[in-house]
Amino acid sequence: MKIFMMKNRVYNFGAGPAMLPESILLEAQDELLDWNNSGMSVMEIGHRTSEFTALLEHAEKSLRQLLSIPKHYQVLFLGGAARTQFAMIPMNLLHPNEQAAYLVTGIWSQMAYAEVLRLKKAYCVASGESSNFSAIPDFESWDIKKESTYLYYTPNETVNGIRVPFIPEMGEVPLIADMTSCLLSEPIDIERYGLIFAGAQKNIANAGLTLVIIRDDLLARTPKPIVATMMDYQIQTENHSMYATPPVFNCYLAAKMFDWIQKQGGVQVLYERNCAKAQLLYQFLDVSYFYTTPVVPEARSIINVCFSIKNKALEQKFITLAREKGLAALQGHRTIGGLRASLYNAMPIAGVEALVDFMAEFAQDNPL
Ligand SMILES: Cc1ncc(COP(=O)(O)O)c(C=O)c1O
Repeated sequence: MKIFMMKNRVYNFGAGPAMLPESILLEAQDELLDWNNSGMSVMEIGHRTSEFTALLEHAEKSLRQLLSIPKHYQVLFLGGAARTQFAMIPMNLLHPNEQAAYLVTGIWSQMAYAEVLRLKKAYCVASGESSNFSAIPDFESWDIKKESTYLYYTPNETVNGIRVPFIPEMGEVPLIADMTSCLLSEPIDIERYGLIFAGAQKNIANAGLTLVIIRDDLLARTPKPIVATMMDYQIQTENHSMYATPPVFNCYLAAKMFDWIQKQGGVQVLYERNCAKAQLLYQFLDVSYFYTTPVVPEARSIINVCFSIKNKALEQKFITLAREKGLAALQGHRTIGGLRASLYNAMPIAGVEALVDFMAEFAQDNPL
């Protein structure tokens, strides 16, 4: 098999779609025309064949092992953007006479809150908006109503570079977490949550797949009013994520990613690596006269590091020069600007070292 290796691969600091391990891309390249000795690409083979169902079963089993997912949680591989869950969650779990609690800590939870308000009743327990999403409101200050059906939050806010550094203690109220940018980057205790979801385009596969991990008692909640078949968690579960054709190539890459994580030593090993990468960058930022980082130290994301240059006029030059040096996609999110380095599992420590070296050099060459 002829393998075409790119000489000019970059360190991709984009927030998503994000960098994937090169070994996975090469394997996919190798298998593109003939997967599993089928004489077909995985994109051409029927999703109900024994080969593909075995692939999906393998992917689920690996994910269950990596995250120690208990039997009373179901795993769904759903087609569509992570944002679809902003609607599916209230449509499935929230009845018309109930209300859900939302913690707003950045752009993604803000958007999820806006979506629930279009559909059902919800209230905001606390918002970090007044601090420009640079700090998490103190848990003691949250306005929690006991009769909340669930608490929704975003443990890692990809755009704002902020994480909730604790798991909210909500007693019987189920926790729902958007882990799009942090699933598999750190160990989690699944049993603290009622539902977790994650879009694939950061740490899992290519865009178009969303994983949902849902506890059986939430699954048993009959949606009121009734929801479209494709949007019904129960129906998707009964059909093992195959009510419709699943995003087959994404599932194939996800299976490879789970194997890759296993080979690296598991989620704990990657977490330690991720902490080391983030620490390298934050330590550099903290002593810099040239760069600043907006988020309070105790709530800094270990995955999405937001920063800026004290002279904002230099930022475009920074992005352009970095790109020339093979350090790509360092611009902040289009809604807030600034700079951001995303350090998902596939980013090696060498990438962060190269970034820090470049940042030091740039600061030296460009007076504020
Ligand atoms: C935390 C979080 N939630 C939701 C989304 C939305 O993902 P999608 O574009 O797949 O809807 C993103 C995308 O970056 C995200 O980072």
